[in-house]
Amino acid sequence: MPALGFGTLIPDATLTITATRDALAAGFRHFDCAERYGNEREVGSALQAGLAAGGIAREDIFVTTKLWNSNHRPERVEPAFEASLDRLGLNYLDLYLIHTPFAFQAGDEQDPRDQNGNVLYDSGVTLLDTWKAMESLVDHGKCRAIGLSDISLDELKPIYESARIKPAVVQVESHPYLPETELLEFCQESGVVFLAFAPLGHGMTPGLLEDPVISGIATRVGKTPAQVLLAWAVQRGTALLTTPRTAARARENFDITALPTAAFDEINRIQTRQRLNPVVKTGVPGFIPKATSA
Ligand SMILES: NC(=O)c1ccc[n+]([C@@H]2O[C@H](COP(=O)([O-])OP(=O)(O)OC[C@H]3O[C@@H](n4cnc5c(N)ncnc54)[C@H](OP(=O)(O)O)[C@@H]3O)[C@@H](O)[C@H]2O)c1
Repeated sequence: MPALGFGTLIPDATLTITATRDALAAGFRHFDCAERYGNEREVGSALQAGLAAGGIAREDIFVTTKLWNSNHRPERVEPAFEASLDRLGLNYLDLYLIHTPFAFQAGDEQDPRDQNGNVLYDSGVTLLDTWKAMESLVDHGKCRAIGLSDISLDELKPIYESARIKPAVVQVESHPYLPETELLEFCQESGVVFLAFAPLGHGMTPGLLEDPVISGIATRVGKTPAQVLLAWAVQRGTALLTTPRTAARARENFDITALPTAAFDEINRIQTRQRLNPVVKTGVPGFIPKATSA
C-alpha cells in the first residue's frame, strides 16, 4: 500500500472529480473512498479517465472503500461491497474497511434516528459477526485485504485475536496532537498498517498548520507546514491520507522529504492533545456536512 494516500471525503461532486484527477496526476496511487461519502461514482469515473489518460494500469493504484454502519449485519456486507465496487467501476478492491465499530439500525438510511434525534444502534450484531462476513469477501477473491477504522486499541485487540484473516490496516485520526502511540506500537508489533487520517488536522485553523513548532521547522527546512506534517507521519512509520483539493496542493502534498532527526524529535515533544473528529465516540461522522451526505 503506498504510504501517501489521497482521501476522497469531498462533499462537492465536481470538486471530487477534479481533485481525484489532480491527485493521480501529481503521483498519488492510493485512494481512500467510502460508501458514506456519497461520491464513489465520481471517484470511480475520475480514476477511469485518469488511468486511461496517463497510461496507468489498475494494478498500479491501490483503492480502498468502507462498509457503512447501517450495513453491519452479515447478510448486508457482500451486497454493500458489490454496490461500492459497481459505483467505483472496479472489479476488485485492494482494501475494504469497516468504517466504524458502531452498528446502526440495518437498512438503506445511513443516519437512522428516533423522533428525538437519537441515533438508532443495532445491538443484534457484534463487530466479530461483521468481521467474519468481511473475511468471506477475501475468500471470494474480490477484495485483497480487510481492516478497521475509527477503532480503539481495546476494541481492536479482541478482533485481532479472534480473526481468521487478521486486519491488514487500521485507519484512525492521527497527527502530532493525537499521536496514538500505544495503538501504533501494537500495529507495528502485529504487522498491521497504521493509516492516519487528518494528518494536517483536517486543515482547521487555528490548528496544526499554524503550530509554532511546525511553522518554525518549515521555515528552517524550506518546506511548507503541510509538508512537514506529512513527512513526520511517514517518518514515524504510518501511512497517511490527505485531501488536497487543488492541483497545486496535490503536488505540494506529494512532495515530501525526510525531516532532520532534531526536527522529528521536536514534533514528538509537542504536548498539545486534541481529537478533532468525534466519530470514535458515536459512529456519527464528524467531517461530513449533513446536507450533502445522502
Ligand atoms: N475513517 C474515518 O472516519 C475518516 C474520517 C475523516 C477522514 N477520513 C479519510 O481521511 C482523508 C483525509 O482526512 P482529512 O481530509 O481530514 O485530511 P487533512 O489532509 O488533514 O485535511 C484536509 C484539509 O486540509 C487542507 N489542506 C490540504 N492540503 C493542504 C496544504 N498543502 N496546505 C494547507 N492546507 C491544506 C484542505 O483544506 P481546503 O479546504 O482549504 O482545501 C483540506 O480540506 C479523508 O479524505 C478521508 O478519506 C476518514
